[in-house]
Amino acid sequence: MSLLNGEITGAVIGKPLDRVDGPLKVTGRAAYATEQRRDNPEAPRAAVGWIVEATIGKGRILRIDAAAAERAPGVRLVLTHENAPEQAPYSQPDDAGRFTQSHAVLQGDAVRHFGQPVALVVADTLEQARAAAFLVEVEYAAEPGRYDAHDESEAMPPDSLDGGGEPDVCHGDFEAAYGRSAVALDARYTTPNQIASAMEPHATLAEWRDGRLTLHMSLQILASGKQGIANTLRIDPQQVRILSPFIGGGFGSKLGIHNDAVLAALAAKVLERPVKVVQQRRNLFHNAPHRGHSIQRIRLGADAEGRLLAIGHESLQPMREGYPFAEPVASATRAGYACEALLTRHRVVPTNRPSIDSMRAPGEAIGTPTFEAALDELAEQLGLDPLELRLRNTPERDPGSGRPFASRDLERCLREGAERFGWRDRPRRPRSRRDGRWLIGYGMASAIRPNMLMEGSARVRLGGNGQVVCQLDMTDLGTGSYTILTQVAAETLGLDPGKVSVELGDSDFPQTSGSGGSFGAATSGSALHEACLDLKRQLVRVATEHPESPMHGCTVESLTNGHGRLAGTCSDGRGVEASFADLATLAGRDGLVGEGSIEAGSDHDDFAQYSYGGQFVELGVDPDTGEVRLRRALGVFSAGRILNAKTARSQLIGGMIFGIGGALFEELELDARSGAFVNRDLAEYHLAVNRDIPDIEVVMLEQPDERSNPLGSKGIGELGICGIGAAVANAVRNASGVRVRDFPITLDKVLHGLEARV
Ligand code: MOS
Repeated sequence: MSLLNGEITGAVIGKPLDRVDGPLKVTGRAAYATEQRRDNPEAPRAAVGWIVEATIGKGRILRIDAAAAERAPGVRLVLTHENAPEQAPYSQPDDAGRFTQSHAVLQGDAVRHFGQPVALVVADTLEQARAAAFLVEVEYAAEPGRYDAHDESEAMPPDSLDGGGEPDVCHGDFEAAYGRSAVALDARYTTPNQIASAMEPHATLAEWRDGRLTLHMSLQILASGKQGIANTLRIDPQQVRILSPFIGGGFGSKLGIHNDAVLAALAAKVLERPVKVVQQRRNLFHNAPHRGHSIQRIRLGADAEGRLLAIGHESLQPMREGYPFAEPVASATRAGYACEALLTRHRVVPTNRPSIDSMRAPGEAIGTPTFEAALDELAEQLGLDPLELRLRNTPERDPGSGRPFASRDLERCLREGAERFGWRDRPRRPRSRRDGRWLIGYGMASAIRPNMLMEGSARVRLGGNGQVVCQLDMTDLGTGSYTILTQVAAETLGLDPGKVSVELGDSDFPQTSGSGGSFGAATSGSALHEACLDLKRQLVRVATEHPESPMHGCTVESLTNGHGRLAGTCSDGRGVEASFADLATLAGRDGLVGEGSIEAGSDHDDFAQYSYGGQFVELGVDPDTGEVRLRRALGVFSAGRILNAKTARSQLIGGMIFGIGGALFEELELDARSGAFVNRDLAEYHLAVNRDIPDIEVVMLEQPDERSNPLGSKGIGELGICGIGAAVANAVRNASGVRVRDFPITLDKVLHGLEARV
């Protein structure tokens, strides 16, 4: 019966519905992590913690003197390793992932990284805590540490790559194929250290009540966060509740818990009073994860016609000692193009740096700008249109895994993008077009991003008032989760979106994957879809079986779309209807509750799944200053069924801006003597701002993929980032004749290249 098969017609899903949480946000009523308590004047005022950071990168605390700070006005507590409650040792137990391992703080006198908290000063007000923090005296014995990671001889293979891939994937005889190539390239590319400095910093408000800890946080994944807190504090996960209903950005840096959470929990326990700890902007550069730099060797070999024979992509990155993490830098390389021989290899160098972990589009964000730029270099050597080089090497199967593609839409994105952008009008030779003083160039690149589905479950409750309430521990980073989930429930139940409310960000709700890896919408959306189907089955059962139902003994045939009613026919041929509200009332005081869950099945084992895009950029380069100014950018994307045309477009535009920032500006400067990041604020860590960003056009080619998930959607959150950096780099080359292989492409590097030409 079509009523129950869950077919998606696009009645609500896909529509550019305004954000359902928009009014809350623009009126300031969306309460973020440390704003949670203002509606409750009865609650004790939260005390405020200020983090005192270590000023060495490795070594020991010889002496810490908090006496003066403790005497300062308003100070309630100074936590140090001498008085902090005991926690499970900071480690990675075999059975715990990196988001669930103990995240102990203030244990012992060892300093593991620059900026590590050595004390938390807790006072009645922020100003008091901050002032007193300067009174804490710490004496260190510094030891030599390793912070840089450029030396191949110190490298080792990581256990696995983020996302689960193998460090090495090699097929065919690389050296032989490379050696036979008519045209070959061997290029060293680098990308810098980067950090996701989300608008809302990492922040926690902790409160213990009756032995239960409630943490108001800014966190992407609640289930593993809850387990991580429990493991750290050695308590039962049932004693922990995390609330994270609104998040001001995360970009991977809030996948797991960080120091603010553990410090706030400890201080609240000791003081028996709520405590909030907000990482200040400068804190989070060392107290939240960053993305390590990369050194990449890319080797490409092709025959004279531009058919790829050999593709090699090797990367070297720093890793935090004792915290296994490696980005899948060559992930898209494994999925991109046909070739005889493929060699991809990832190596890491353990360092004493602050935490290194996922940052938005881990792997692709730094592996695509380099690889797709190297392809451009090869195209130039071949005298071939870079677009044509890509189209000429379309693989039949996924090159890395040998599996068939669930769907492959890259070529359509590239062709459609070229058409819309006017690629045929591009300057054929580098430095061949001017507009006034500006040198004008075009660049393009492919975007490929793995598509994932995780485990998730959802609950949906229909009340006697006809309102539907959906509950999941899913989060909304600002991506639009509330809105798309509203649409999924409305469409599946045949309801007006106004009849649906979505509640997220509570770890007591059914468990999902949370937000990350561009899998959040697919996972939580599919789980909710299943829960709504379950609810529909129950509605039909009550309608046909409950003795007081007007449809008792009749056949249910349809939903009256948008009106919350079932319609059908009785044996005497009479048409009959029943409202959801009435049926829920008949079912009992609690109404009806549907539950559903999802997990990846064989379609994710047997097929390679990716989202795709074609990225195109036009820019100008100032020949005297080396300044790069984007003029326009176009991204054409194929990511399955689009769940909301407006929020999807915003995600893709945001991704493209992120990628442009990575290509041109972002660089975290490491002090290799201590592992400190020197430019630890948003004045010195350069992000793209409005003036840097041109008109961006986004086109979404719909290609619902039934192998992806019941909704047919694919991940889009990180897709926009992929490839755009290469399109920028390639356009800089096309405009100016300068190829910059060391990201970011700052004006000094362009200028240096321009000077070298004359
Ligand atoms: Mo993603 S690295 O989970 O934003």
